[in-house]
Amino acid sequence: MKTVTLSTLQAYKRAGETFSCLTAYDASFAHAASQAGIDVLLVGDSLGMVLQGQQSTLPVTLDDICYHTHCAARGKGASLLMVDLPFMSNASTEQLLRDSGELMRAGAELVKVEGEAWMADGIRELTRRGVPVCAHLGLTPQTVYQLGGYKVQGRDAERAEQIINDAKTLVEAGASVILLECVPASLGKAVTEALDVPVIGIGAGPDTDGQILVMHDILGVTHGRTPRFVKNFLADADSIQGAFQRYHQDVKQRVFPAPEHCF
Ligand code: KIV
Ligand code: NA
Repeated sequence: MKTVTLSTLQAYKRAGETFSCLTAYDASFAHAASQAGIDVLLVGDSLGMVLQGQQSTLPVTLDDICYHTHCAARGKGASLLMVDLPFMSNASTEQLLRDSGELMRAGAELVKVEGEAWMADGIRELTRRGVPVCAHLGLTPQTVYQLGGYKVQGRDAERAEQIINDAKTLVEAGASVILLECVPASLGKAVTEALDVPVIGIGAGPDTDGQILVMHDILGVTHGRTPRFVKNFLADADSIQGAFQRYHQDVKQRVFPAPEHCF
Protein backbone atom coordinates (compact mmCIF):
# COMPACT_ATOMS: atom_id res chain seq x y z
CA MET A 1 0.00 0.00 0.00
CA LYS A 2 1.21 3.49 -0.84
CA THR A 3 2.00 5.76 2.10
CA VAL A 4 -0.71 8.35 2.68
CA THR A 5 0.58 11.92 3.08
CA LEU A 6 -1.00 15.37 3.06
CA SER A 7 -0.38 15.44 -0.71
CA THR A 8 -2.45 12.26 -1.05
CA LEU A 9 -5.38 13.92 0.71
CA GLN A 10 -5.02 17.04 -1.45
CA ALA A 11 -5.00 14.83 -4.57
CA TYR A 12 -8.19 13.11 -3.40
CA LYS A 13 -9.83 16.50 -3.02
CA ARG A 14 -8.77 17.65 -6.49
CA ALA A 15 -10.01 14.37 -7.99
CA GLY A 16 -13.32 14.61 -6.13
CA GLU A 17 -12.60 11.33 -4.32
CA THR A 18 -13.46 10.75 -0.68
CA PHE A 19 -11.11 9.28 1.91
CA SER A 20 -11.62 7.31 5.11
CA CYS A 21 -10.47 8.16 8.63
CA LEU A 22 -10.85 6.24 11.88
CA THR A 23 -9.62 6.65 15.43
CA ALA A 24 -6.90 4.25 16.64
CA TYR A 25 -5.25 4.15 20.04
CA ASP A 26 -2.96 1.13 19.93
CA ALA A 27 -0.70 -0.83 17.59
CA SER A 28 -3.00 -3.81 16.95
CA PHE A 29 -6.08 -1.86 15.93
CA ALA A 30 -3.97 0.69 14.03
CA HIS A 31 -2.50 -2.21 12.06
CA ALA A 32 -5.93 -3.73 11.34
CA ALA A 33 -7.35 -0.37 10.21
CA SER A 34 -4.33 0.37 8.06
CA GLN A 35 -4.54 -3.08 6.43
CA ALA A 36 -8.20 -2.38 5.65
CA GLY A 37 -7.07 0.67 3.66
CA ILE A 38 -8.14 3.42 6.09
CA ASP A 39 -6.36 6.56 4.87
CA VAL A 40 -6.02 8.51 8.12
CA LEU A 41 -5.78 7.22 11.70
CA LEU A 42 -6.55 9.61 14.57
CA VAL A 43 -5.26 9.23 18.09
CA GLY A 44 -8.25 11.17 19.38
CA ASP A 45 -8.78 12.54 22.85
CA SER A 46 -12.01 10.53 22.58
CA LEU A 47 -9.74 7.98 24.28
CA GLY A 48 -10.87 9.69 27.48
CA MET A 49 -14.33 8.30 26.89
CA VAL A 50 -13.80 5.00 25.06
CA LEU A 51 -10.64 3.84 26.87
CA GLN A 52 -10.76 5.61 30.23
CA GLY A 53 -14.52 5.78 30.80
CA GLN A 54 -14.52 9.54 31.45
CA GLN A 55 -17.59 11.75 30.97
CA SER A 56 -15.77 14.07 28.54
CA THR A 57 -12.42 14.54 26.80
CA LEU A 58 -11.26 17.20 29.30
CA PRO A 59 -9.39 14.92 31.77
CA VAL A 60 -7.12 13.52 29.02
CA THR A 61 -3.49 14.62 29.47
CA LEU A 62 -0.65 15.17 27.02
CA ASP A 63 1.08 12.12 28.54
CA ASP A 64 -2.02 9.96 27.91
CA ILE A 65 -2.06 11.01 24.27
CA CYS A 66 1.70 10.58 23.84
CA TYR A 67 1.51 7.04 25.22
CA HIS A 68 -1.24 6.07 22.76
CA THR A 69 0.55 7.86 19.91
CA HIS A 70 3.67 5.77 20.52
CA CYS A 71 1.47 2.64 20.46
CA ALA A 72 -0.56 3.55 17.36
CA ALA A 73 2.53 4.77 15.47
CA ARG A 74 4.04 1.28 15.63
CA GLY A 75 1.01 -0.22 13.87
CA LYS A 76 0.03 2.59 11.53
CA GLY A 77 1.47 1.08 8.35
CA ALA A 78 0.81 3.26 5.31
CA SER A 79 -1.91 5.36 6.94
CA LEU A 80 -1.37 9.01 7.90
CA LEU A 81 -1.25 9.47 11.69
CA MET A 82 -3.17 12.46 13.03
CA VAL A 83 -3.08 13.20 16.78
CA ASP A 84 -5.26 15.39 19.01
CA LEU A 85 -3.86 18.17 21.16
CA PRO A 86 -5.51 17.83 24.57
CA PHE A 87 -7.69 20.36 26.41
CA MET A 88 -5.77 23.61 27.16
CA SER A 89 -2.90 22.92 24.79
CA ASN A 90 -4.26 26.06 23.14
CA ALA A 91 -3.79 28.07 26.37
CA SER A 92 -0.95 30.00 24.70
CA THR A 93 1.13 29.81 21.54
CA GLU A 94 4.10 28.68 23.60
CA GLN A 95 2.11 25.84 25.16
CA LEU A 96 0.76 24.89 21.74
CA LEU A 97 4.24 24.71 20.23
CA ARG A 98 5.67 22.71 23.12
CA ASP A 99 2.78 20.21 23.24
CA SER A 100 2.80 19.79 19.46
CA GLY A 101 6.53 19.13 19.60
CA GLU A 102 5.90 16.29 22.06
CA LEU A 103 3.21 14.79 19.82
CA MET A 104 5.42 14.99 16.72
CA ARG A 105 8.28 13.32 18.62
CA ALA A 106 5.86 10.57 19.69
CA GLY A 107 4.97 9.87 16.04
CA ALA A 108 2.26 12.34 14.99
CA GLU A 109 2.32 13.39 11.33
CA LEU A 110 -0.49 15.95 11.64
CA VAL A 111 -1.77 17.57 14.85
CA LYS A 112 -5.42 18.45 15.39
CA VAL A 113 -6.48 21.39 17.52
CA GLU A 114 -9.90 22.66 18.56
CA GLY A 115 -10.53 26.39 18.33
CA GLU A 116 -11.99 29.13 16.21
CA ALA A 117 -10.51 32.07 14.28
CA TRP A 118 -8.55 33.22 17.36
CA MET A 119 -6.33 30.12 16.87
CA ALA A 120 -4.88 31.68 13.71
CA ASP A 121 -1.65 32.91 15.34
CA GLY A 122 -0.91 29.55 16.95
CA ILE A 123 -1.60 27.70 13.73
CA ARG A 124 0.65 30.11 11.81
CA GLU A 125 3.53 29.50 14.23
CA LEU A 126 3.10 25.71 14.06
CA THR A 127 2.98 25.75 10.26
CA ARG A 128 6.14 27.89 10.12
CA ARG A 129 7.91 25.23 12.12
CA GLY A 130 6.85 22.43 9.81
CA VAL A 131 4.04 21.03 11.92
CA PRO A 132 0.96 20.41 9.76
CA VAL A 133 -2.32 21.30 11.47
CA CYS A 134 -5.92 20.12 11.24
CA ALA A 135 -8.33 22.66 12.75
CA HIS A 136 -11.41 21.12 14.40
CA LEU A 137 -14.55 23.30 14.08
CA GLY A 138 -18.29 22.99 14.65
CA LEU A 139 -18.98 20.90 17.73
CA THR A 140 -15.71 21.03 19.67
CA PRO A 141 -15.97 18.51 22.53
CA GLN A 142 -13.36 20.31 24.65
CA THR A 143 -15.81 23.23 24.98
CA VAL A 144 -18.83 21.03 25.76
CA TYR A 145 -19.50 22.79 29.07
CA GLN A 146 -19.71 26.13 27.32
CA LEU A 147 -21.83 24.73 24.47
CA GLY A 148 -24.22 23.21 27.00
CA GLY A 149 -23.95 19.67 25.66
CA TYR A 150 -23.11 17.73 22.51
CA LYS A 151 -25.37 19.71 20.18
CA VAL A 152 -25.46 20.26 16.42
CA GLN A 153 -23.70 23.54 15.55
CA GLY A 154 -24.50 26.00 12.78
CA ARG A 155 -28.22 25.37 12.38
CA ASP A 156 -28.82 29.14 12.34
CA ALA A 157 -27.44 31.30 9.55
CA GLU A 158 -25.29 33.46 11.80
CA ARG A 159 -23.38 30.58 13.42
CA ALA A 160 -23.11 28.82 10.04
CA GLU A 161 -21.49 31.90 8.53
CA GLN A 162 -19.15 32.15 11.52
CA ILE A 163 -18.00 28.55 11.01
CA ILE A 164 -17.33 29.17 7.29
CA ASN A 165 -15.38 32.35 8.08
CA ASP A 166 -13.39 30.67 10.88
CA ALA A 167 -12.45 27.85 8.52
CA LYS A 168 -11.26 30.33 5.87
CA THR A 169 -9.25 32.31 8.44
CA LEU A 170 -7.53 29.18 9.79
CA VAL A 171 -6.69 27.92 6.30
CA GLU A 172 -5.20 31.34 5.50
CA ALA A 173 -3.14 31.00 8.69
CA GLY A 174 -1.78 27.68 7.43
CA ALA A 175 -4.17 24.88 8.47
CA SER A 176 -3.69 21.97 6.06
CA VAL A 177 -6.95 20.19 6.91
CA ILE A 178 -10.28 21.20 8.48
CA LEU A 179 -12.40 18.82 10.54
CA LEU A 180 -16.09 19.61 11.00
CA GLU A 181 -18.14 17.90 13.69
CA CYS A 182 -21.94 17.83 14.01
CA VAL A 183 -23.13 20.45 11.55
CA PRO A 184 -26.01 20.36 9.06
CA ALA A 185 -25.12 18.57 5.81
CA SER A 186 -25.67 21.84 3.90
CA LEU A 187 -22.97 23.54 5.99
CA GLY A 188 -20.59 20.59 5.54
CA LYS A 189 -21.02 21.01 1.80
CA ALA A 190 -20.59 24.81 1.88
CA VAL A 191 -17.34 24.63 3.91
CA THR A 192 -15.96 21.88 1.67
CA GLU A 193 -16.68 23.90 -1.47
CA ALA A 194 -15.32 27.13 0.00
CA LEU A 195 -11.88 25.68 0.81
CA ASP A 196 -8.95 24.34 -1.22
CA VAL A 197 -7.80 22.09 1.64
CA PRO A 198 -9.33 18.69 2.50
CA VAL A 199 -12.32 18.80 4.87
CA ILE A 200 -13.04 15.79 7.10
CA GLY A 201 -16.53 15.39 8.51
CA ILE A 202 -18.16 13.56 11.41
CA GLY A 203 -21.89 14.13 11.45
CA ALA A 204 -21.29 16.77 8.76
CA GLY A 205 -23.12 15.15 5.86
CA PRO A 206 -22.05 13.20 2.77
CA ASP A 207 -20.24 16.00 0.91
CA THR A 208 -17.07 16.52 2.96
CA ASP A 209 -13.83 15.24 1.37
CA GLY A 210 -13.23 12.69 4.13
CA GLN A 211 -15.29 10.94 6.79
CA ILE A 212 -14.20 10.00 10.31
CA LEU A 213 -15.73 7.90 13.09
CA VAL A 214 -14.64 6.60 16.47
CA MET A 215 -13.47 2.97 16.22
CA HIS A 216 -15.49 1.74 19.20
CA ASP A 217 -18.64 3.20 17.64
CA ILE A 218 -18.24 1.33 14.34
CA LEU A 219 -17.66 -1.91 16.27
CA GLY A 220 -20.76 -1.33 18.42
CA VAL A 221 -18.90 -1.52 21.72
CA THR A 222 -19.71 2.00 22.88
CA HIS A 223 -22.00 2.06 25.88
CA GLY A 224 -24.68 4.66 26.45
CA ARG A 225 -26.43 6.70 23.82
CA THR A 226 -24.83 6.64 20.36
CA PRO A 227 -25.06 9.76 18.22
CA ARG A 228 -27.12 9.83 15.03
CA PHE A 229 -24.03 9.89 12.74
CA VAL A 230 -22.72 6.54 14.05
CA LYS A 231 -23.11 3.23 12.22
CA ASN A 232 -22.21 -0.21 13.56
CA PHE A 233 -20.22 -1.81 10.71
CA LEU A 234 -19.59 -5.02 12.64
CA ALA A 235 -23.30 -5.85 12.49
CA ASP A 236 -23.00 -6.86 8.80
CA ALA A 237 -19.42 -8.16 8.90
CA ASP A 238 -17.95 -11.39 10.25
CA SER A 239 -14.79 -9.88 11.77
CA ILE A 240 -13.29 -6.65 13.00
CA GLN A 241 -11.09 -6.56 9.90
CA GLY A 242 -14.23 -7.04 7.79
CA ALA A 243 -15.99 -4.17 9.59
CA PHE A 244 -13.04 -1.83 8.92
CA GLN A 245 -13.01 -2.87 5.24
CA ARG A 246 -16.74 -2.32 4.92
CA TYR A 247 -16.50 1.13 6.51
CA HIS A 248 -13.62 2.04 4.19
CA GLN A 249 -15.51 0.86 1.09
CA ASP A 250 -18.76 2.54 2.09
CA VAL A 251 -16.93 5.85 2.58
CA LYS A 252 -15.02 5.53 -0.71
CA GLN A 253 -18.24 4.71 -2.59
CA ARG A 254 -20.16 7.47 -0.75
CA VAL A 255 -22.65 4.92 0.58
CA PHE A 256 -21.86 6.16 4.08
CA PRO A 257 -23.08 8.48 5.52
CA ALA A 258 -26.69 7.83 4.44
CA PRO A 259 -29.40 10.46 5.05
CA GLU A 260 -30.30 8.87 8.42
CA HIS A 261 -26.77 9.64 9.67
CA CYS A 262 -26.94 13.34 8.74
CA PHE A 263 -28.35 16.53 10.23
O1 KIV B 1 -11.22 12.59 19.57
C1 KIV B 1 -11.77 12.18 18.55
O2 KIV B 1 -11.99 10.97 18.33
C2 KIV B 1 -12.15 13.17 17.54
C3 KIV B 1 -13.00 12.71 16.40
C4 KIV B 1 -14.36 12.35 16.88
C5 KIV B 1 -13.05 13.68 15.30
O3 KIV B 1 -11.81 14.30 17.66
NA1 NA C 1 -10.95 14.85 19.67
